[in-house]
Amino acid sequence: ATIFRNNYTPPSWLVPEISLDFDLGTELTKCVATLKVERNPDGDGDQTLHLCGDNIAVMTLKVDGNDAEGWSMSGSNLLLPLPGSAHEVTIETHLHPATNSQLMGLYASGGMLCTQCEAEGFRRITFFPDRPDVLSRYTVRMEGPKDQFPVLLSNGNLADSGDGADGRHWAVWDDPWPKPSYLFALVAGQLVANRDTFTTCGGRKVDLAVWVREGDLERTDHAMRSLIASMKWDEETFGREYDLDQFNIVAVSDFNMGAMENKGLNIFNTRYVLADPETATDGDYDGVEGVVGHEYFHNWSGNRITCRDWFQLSLKEGFTVLRDQLFSADMGSEPVKRIEDVRILRAAQFPEDSGPLAHPIRPDSYQEISNFYTATVYNKGAEVIRMMKTLAGDDAFRKGTDLYFDRHDGEAATCEDFIKSMEDGAGLDLTQFRRWYEQAGTPRVTMQSEFDQSTGTVTLHFTQKVPATPGQPNKQPVPIPLKVALFDRDSGTHTGEKLLVLDKARQDFTFDGFAKPPVVSVNRAFTAPIQLDAEAHDDDLVFLAANDDDAFARYEALQQLVTRELLGTIEHGPDEKRRGAIAEAMGKVLDDDQIDDLMRGELMMLPSIAFLLELAAPANPVALHEARERLKGHIGTRLRDKLIALHERASAVPYGLDADARGARKVKTQALVMLAAADQKEAAARAAAQYRTATNMTDRQGAMMVLAGIDCPERSELVADFHKRFEGNALVIDKWFSLQANALDPKVLDTVEALAKHPDFTIKNPNRVRSLYMTMAGNAAAFHDESGRGYRMIADLVLALDPINAQTAARFIPALGRWRKIEPGRAALMRAELERIAAAPNLSKDTREQVSKSLDG
Ligand code: ARG
Ligand code: ZN
Repeated sequence: ATIFRNNYTPPSWLVPEISLDFDLGTELTKCVATLKVERNPDGDGDQTLHLCGDNIAVMTLKVDGNDAEGWSMSGSNLLLPLPGSAHEVTIETHLHPATNSQLMGLYASGGMLCTQCEAEGFRRITFFPDRPDVLSRYTVRMEGPKDQFPVLLSNGNLADSGDGADGRHWAVWDDPWPKPSYLFALVAGQLVANRDTFTTCGGRKVDLAVWVREGDLERTDHAMRSLIASMKWDEETFGREYDLDQFNIVAVSDFNMGAMENKGLNIFNTRYVLADPETATDGDYDGVEGVVGHEYFHNWSGNRITCRDWFQLSLKEGFTVLRDQLFSADMGSEPVKRIEDVRILRAAQFPEDSGPLAHPIRPDSYQEISNFYTATVYNKGAEVIRMMKTLAGDDAFRKGTDLYFDRHDGEAATCEDFIKSMEDGAGLDLTQFRRWYEQAGTPRVTMQSEFDQSTGTVTLHFTQKVPATPGQPNKQPVPIPLKVALFDRDSGTHTGEKLLVLDKARQDFTFDGFAKPPVVSVNRAFTAPIQLDAEAHDDDLVFLAANDDDAFARYEALQQLVTRELLGTIEHGPDEKRRGAIAEAMGKVLDDDQIDDLMRGELMMLPSIAFLLELAAPANPVALHEARERLKGHIGTRLRDKLIALHERASAVPYGLDADARGARKVKTQALVMLAAADQKEAAARAAAQYRTATNMTDRQGAMMVLAGIDCPERSELVADFHKRFEGNALVIDKWFSLQANALDPKVLDTVEALAKHPDFTIKNPNRVRSLYMTMAGNAAAFHDESGRGYRMIADLVLALDPINAQTAARFIPALGRWRKIEPGRAALMRAELERIAAAPNLSKDTREQVSKSLDG
């Protein structure tokens, strides 16, 4: 059934208070929920209390202490007619955590019990109006065997605890802040804590703890540092103070997503908690910092102000992603962070926005909300709020967010509430801007510049078009803020950056005072999430790649030059002159001592196949991949000596977490990657040496990434060494799987098939499944193997995984759903796999929605 945004109605009943009493066990957990319910004065007066349920049965049901009468089940939901306007409803349910493979509701992971309730997992624990606009005060009592569950955690503050008979113990947690059911959490297990404290700006001393399994304690310092930095940053940057006496983070190894912002008890995928130099890469460190920040920032953007309904998801996610991006930029390098964020947007969100699953950041309908935790809602959502910040300026933006937090604290709000606060607080008129919330599709912008010698003026001619997307054939222009600078080509300087706002389908902007046609730098810092087609001569791109003072624009110019060359290559072969210009520009990047290595490493990466496919479609992805490898090889050959010198310089830098040492590690591996595309044998020796002398995972993984794609004796030896060295460390074994699934090796599909039978592979653990299969699906040469075998393997996985973990299975459908971007032969094979999935009986709602949209949309 499809649910529509416009059909929202307020709940008929409210639940101001709930108490939950858990008798914990891995096989059987008994839950008694007592709900104080009240008729909602703003509701429709329905006398029947509608309680959602999913995979649970009513064991006992009482109203005001007496056996309930007249109740019935409607599907899995419970309907309870109530005579008065306020009652107490008590429900007992029995849960089976050990067999809960969906990882929604209460489940067992590595012997401990934990929960995931967003979006609709609470209904797998008890019957409840499981919708985010019903806010309740929670009291949770939990009891169980002390040896099995020495640690008992829930939301809020620990109110009381004690020992019972027969080796049992109990704890009572009290959360003073009313919250929706999706923020409920409970954890019970054998855990140890890394503890610290944080004193808030208002003087509240908060006890912090990061809870992990015993052997992992030594890998929790970075998470703790990140948490403390987040708390401080949110006070300073957004004026947000923490509001409980405790803040707990728990790491869990079986988890569908990255992490969850449950009030006062954030639950994380171990991947975003554990880090030490030997087992985590610099990228992993950044992931921990970003996700710890993200979940912490939700305490205000998500928890204190939550969503009225799930169509408003971007209200909390888009805003919180922006907040975590700004945080990470402040902790590290702002321009490098911007480039990384744009790279993710282009590789993940642009393809979504131009495919069958395209949806606005505030969707109009859904069948299964889990399918809408997307790059569009998250990352494009962040870009949309970032544009408001650009339009308003930093100070006014802060006034807008202050007003939003002030006005809606304690409420379940809408995207419209956020926009209105921005208008009133930041002084913006966002009337037309609201279209960014309504329309799907990445706007396409063209720019042509025209120079008039007689008047010394230059005119920039722009057009914009938001493309048609499923269900939205006709689009309106959106306001597009573009930072622009016009460079004098002799001096290499410009007269100042300007902010243009395109709000019409066609628009011209004129500038005067030019003796010669300037070089135009547009969408600097990527102020708008658009596809820009600027008519620029290769020489102008070379100029900007060397001279632009906006780091993003400099990166972008080189990316555009490379993109132009790769698209040209698959159409009509390589352009020698342009290839020469690219190698020369890259050579300048290697030589330039004005840029730091972190930025240099960024500039050395060529555009992703996912991004190129957006521009080339429909295309042969393997041809595109090969063109990209050949260009890398050309650069690697031309710049061999410089790359070797860079690799050697960087190899001499000792390990550290400072920007210089991190930058050195980044360029080291990028240099290897380019050298490997030029001369495999030479690179193999260099990579093997990097692996053998590595003191940290960044160097080791970088070396292995290169080696895994080269058929050489060192490969099998070192792949085996890697496994042996890290046996038993699940996160590193995940890397071992994904390094092999990501290899630039013609036999990679054989390898993936063999790895699926490896004793360390299990379909029950989402991290492991992703490390093998999501990686393969992202490896263009493997996934798009002409035989269709890559597609078949993904479809087989979906069919096997769907009954076990529907949410994770459905996440593999978009890879096959991209068939319209692919040349007809492969597209037919992709479609055939989607049809095979669609024909399977008993598909989950999750997978069903994604498959049917991918076939029709
Ligand atoms: N709110 C979480 C976050 O972004 C994500 C949880 C999504 N869970 C899910 N089952 N879809 O921080
Ligand atoms: Zn989030």
